[in-house]
Formats: sequence, C-alpha cells, structure tokens
Amino acid sequence: MRKICTFLLLNFVVLLSFEQLHAQATASEMQQLINDQFSFAAQQYKILEKNVPNDKMPKTYYANTGKVESSETKWWCSGFFPASLLYIYEHTNDQEVLSIARKRLALQEPMKHYTGNHDLGFMMFAPFGNYYRLFKDPKDHKTIDTAAMSLITRYRPQIKSIQSWNKNKNFNCPVIIDNMMNLELLMWASANGGDPVFREIAINHANSTLANHYRPDHSAFHVLDYDLETGKLIAGKNHQGYNDASAWARGQAWGFYGFTMMYRFEKDEKYLNQAKNIIKFLLNHPNMPADKIPFWDFNAPNIPNALRDASAASILASGLLELAQFTKGKESKYYVETARQIIVKLASDQYRAKLGENGGFLLMHGVGHLPANSEVDVPLSYGDYYFLEAMHRYKNWVLK
Ligand code: GLY
Repeated sequence: MRKICTFLLLNFVVLLSFEQLHAQATASEMQQLINDQFSFAAQQYKILEKNVPNDKMPKTYYANTGKVESSETKWWCSGFFPASLLYIYEHTNDQEVLSIARKRLALQEPMKHYTGNHDLGFMMFAPFGNYYRLFKDPKDHKTIDTAAMSLITRYRPQIKSIQSWNKNKNFNCPVIIDNMMNLELLMWASANGGDPVFREIAINHANSTLANHYRPDHSAFHVLDYDLETGKLIAGKNHQGYNDASAWARGQAWGFYGFTMMYRFEKDEKYLNQAKNIIKFLLNHPNMPADKIPFWDFNAPNIPNALRDASAASILASGLLELAQFTKGKESKYYVETARQIIVKLASDQYRAKLGENGGFLLMHGVGHLPANSEVDVPLSYGDYYFLEAMHRYKNWVLK
C-alpha cells in the first residue's frame, strides 16, 4: 500500500512539474515573441510614417500600386495610427516613436468637435485615452471630455440609442453594432469626473443593443434601422457583411469586445453573459477555422475559400484577454489560451509583414468592406492597433 502511495505521489510531482515547466516555457516564448513584435513595430511604423503626408493618417496599402492610401482626420480610423504608436512607445521606450505619436496627436486633436458620425471613440479615445493613461496631462483629459460631448449629440432618446450614420438612401436612422466600441469613451469620461449623462447614454445604448441587435443564436445584425418618428425598429440589415441574415465577422468582434468593456465599468452580469454568449457562438461556430482567424463573414458563401479578416482576429484576441480577467479557472485559461493562439498566428509570416513591406503596416489580410469591393485583403490600421493592444494586455495581465 505504501509503495502504491509513494508511486502515485511521485507521478503527481512529476506531472505537476511538467505542467509548471510547460507554463514557464510558454511564458518565456510569449515574452520573447511580444518583445520582438514591439521592436519590429517600432521600425515598421517609422516607415509607415514616411509613407503618409503630414496632414493625413494612414488608411491602408495596396500591393498592386505599391502605395499607402491615407485619409482625412475625420475618417473613422484616423486615431489608430497615433494610438498604435503609443503602445509601441510604451513597450520600446523609443523616443522617435513618441515624437511621431505627438505630431499625429496634434493633427487629430481638432476632431474632438466632430459630430458627423458616431466614431468619436475610435477617433479620439483610442489615441487620447492612451496618451492620458501614459502622461496624465489635464489638457488631454479635457480633449476626451469634449469628444464625449460631441458623441452624445448623436443620442436619440426616442430609440435610446446613439445614431451611427446620418440618414441616407439605404437607412433612416442606422445604428450599427460597431457603436458598442464608442461607448468606452463615454464610460471612461463619466467614471473620471465627466458628466454622469455620458454613462446613462452609454448604458441605454448598450441595453438597446442587447434587446434589438442580437438574434437568438447570439449573432448580431450589422445595422439596425429605426424610424425616428415612431421610435420603432424597422429592420435588422446588413452593410459590410454578406447579407441581412449573416454574421459579419468584425461586427461580431466589435459586439464581443464592447460588452466585455461594458462589464469592466458596470459589473452588470447581463453584459458579462452577453460577452460569453457571443464568444461561445463564435468559437464553436462550424465555420470558425481551427486557427481562430475568422473568415470575413461566418456565412460567406465560398468558405473554406473565403478571405480571412485579420482585424476581426485582433479584436477578438484583445477582448478575450479582458474577458479572462472577469472569469476564473478553466474558463479563464481557455480564453487566454485562445487569445495566445491568435496572437501567435497573427505574428507568423502568414499574417505579419516583413520589414519595409506592406507599406509599413504590421498585419496583412484584413477585409474592410467586401461588398463595396473596398479594402479587401489589405492591411488595416485597426487590425494593427488591436493586435498591439492584445500583446500589451497579454504582457501586462498574463505574463506579470
Ligand atoms: N465600420 C467599421 C468597420 O469597418 O469595422
């Protein structure tokens, strides 16, 4: 009997140390990978900076023309370049990167007054939220508050939602799932001394999204179209996805990240449950590839030959790392491990460009708006940003 016990105990010790050794090896591999990716990003983004006029922001790159396409600062993605530079600076301490970031922040700053769409969170909170986190200058806090004020001009009380785009030939009052991301600006501003109305609006919007945007299987429409006269929902529709009934990959990722973020601020279980339901739907979807880099739409007709969207994968990886913070044990480990696999895949030659290539962007193979044949299989500034954010989170939350 004693011999059996000793044998079992020895096995347990061997197994335990094997598991620990494995975890240590994974941690040190990830540390190395993340450090390498940030060092690379510092070099690559200096190249990107040279490819973009001083009064514009980088948008994408087309290999066939060899040209970086740039945008005005009112384009929804304009804040991602300075925001990415700040993550890169934070992890490399590269002063040249910081000075490029500052130059680009100054260019973006007047957009705090923009009210032409709902994208103020992307445009202003990604860059200035990060800058304030790092440097705590009250001037930047004010910029964030002003941007929040601009965003709430689009709140429509009759539908308890923020109107995403203006009325156009396709939609009366469109509210898109992407809008969940812009709530972070409002929640943060309110939690940091800003007007409590920012929070109230964000909660109303999140609750309307929860009630109206999701189908019973926890997939989301891209667009909800409302009638502002009656306050009634007209229909769930599509814009950037395959069709009205499909699950456009990036939209699912925005919703997942958004509800996880709402739980961070509110600690309301219904947001946590929603985030869990969305990620369960996505990770168990028969069309989710084994490497977890989603096809651009889960219902794209030519799966498995459909294009992948690296940007959706980046957003999922970053969101998964946050969801892991709010869960325990096996469940939390599963989210971390899934995020790790995505990061490793995105950092591989299959997705991450080589120095000097890809116009200076980090990731290849993003899909912007396939039905409009716009930005298809190209780098996307937000793909890079959430990839960097995922590695930042992994380093700070998993490796520390
Ligand atoms: N409309 C924002 C996006 O393309 O995800």
